Amino acid sequence: MSQSTSIDPTLDLRAEILRLKRELNAILLCHYYQDSEIQDLADDLGDSLALARRAAATDADVIVFCGVHFMAETAKILNPDKLVLLPDLKAGCSLADRCPESDFRAFLERYDNPFVISYVNSSAAVKAMSDLICTSGNVLKMVERAPKDRTIVFAPDRNLGRFAIQKTGRDMVLWPGGCEVHEVFSEKALVQLKHRHPEALVLAHPECADNVLRHADFIGSTKDMLDAVTRETRASFIVVTEPGVIHEMQKRAPGKQFIPVPNEAGCACNTCPHMRLNTLEKLYLCLRDRAPSIELSPELAQRALRPLQRMLDWS
Ligand code: 13P
Ligand code: SF4
Repeated sequence: MSQSTSIDPTLDLRAEILRLKRELNAILLCHYYQDSEIQDLADDLGDSLALARRAAATDADVIVFCGVHFMAETAKILNPDKLVLLPDLKAGCSLADRCPESDFRAFLERYDNPFVISYVNSSAAVKAMSDLICTSGNVLKMVERAPKDRTIVFAPDRNLGRFAIQKTGRDMVLWPGGCEVHEVFSEKALVQLKHRHPEALVLAHPECADNVLRHADFIGSTKDMLDAVTRETRASFIVVTEPGVIHEMQKRAPGKQFIPVPNEAGCACNTCPHMRLNTLEKLYLCLRDRAPSIELSPELAQRALRPLQRMLDWS
């Protein structure tokens, strides 16, 4: 049965979302790439690692995830008996979507007993084929802990994988995937911005391509970048990741300047189209209707939990 998506225009959406959240004993977990009006309603705002940890520890009855599908799915793997809501089920991720289960299985068959590390930006099926999960916040620690006598296969982000190879010196086979947002930041525009703002510190996400990362002063997860803007004494920062994170940067370091970087197509702020599918209206509707929810077979959830739990134990 299709649900009504009509909303009374006189409704105070923010107040209704907070009321429904209380009524359902729900927790609202939110990623930094969401619209600022959604970030401002979150119980917890974080990078993928912090949100996974929070999902693992919550005693709420319902988890509402404002992020993309793999993030909500991770919360479901950690809480198979809880209701996990995602305002728009179509909020996918190019990294997860471009690493299909069957292709990945065939890829792994090329190697003898590989140790498989999957970035959390992957499907539950790919996680279930992995030995260990990592996020951009703990990738170096996870790669360093991989056994020395096994071929390491890293998927699905070749940029994050290459960054980890450079930093740890570990050899790894990389699945050839990339993020459609981070791979298309314009190197030319970044160089021009550096000339225009020579005093600015360049912060970049490790999902960016090598030609962009080589201009960065600091490379890290969204949380690590946020820590950098409060730690560093600089007054301005060039931010090479999805610009949603700038909202929290401005809150934590008011008075400092944050400069987004355009993509190769010239789009001034290079936003993630998947993250931005979630809206305040859809958040309200999903709380009102208790749908759409993440559904996973218990058997798959159990297999995907093993490498995810190992990550949480090791980080
Ligand atoms: P973080 O874990 O650094 O927040 O990154 C998530 C993500 O999807 C980056 O594109
Ligand atoms: Fe996926 Fe890239 Fe969007 Fe992050 S920014 S959710 S990696 S498509």
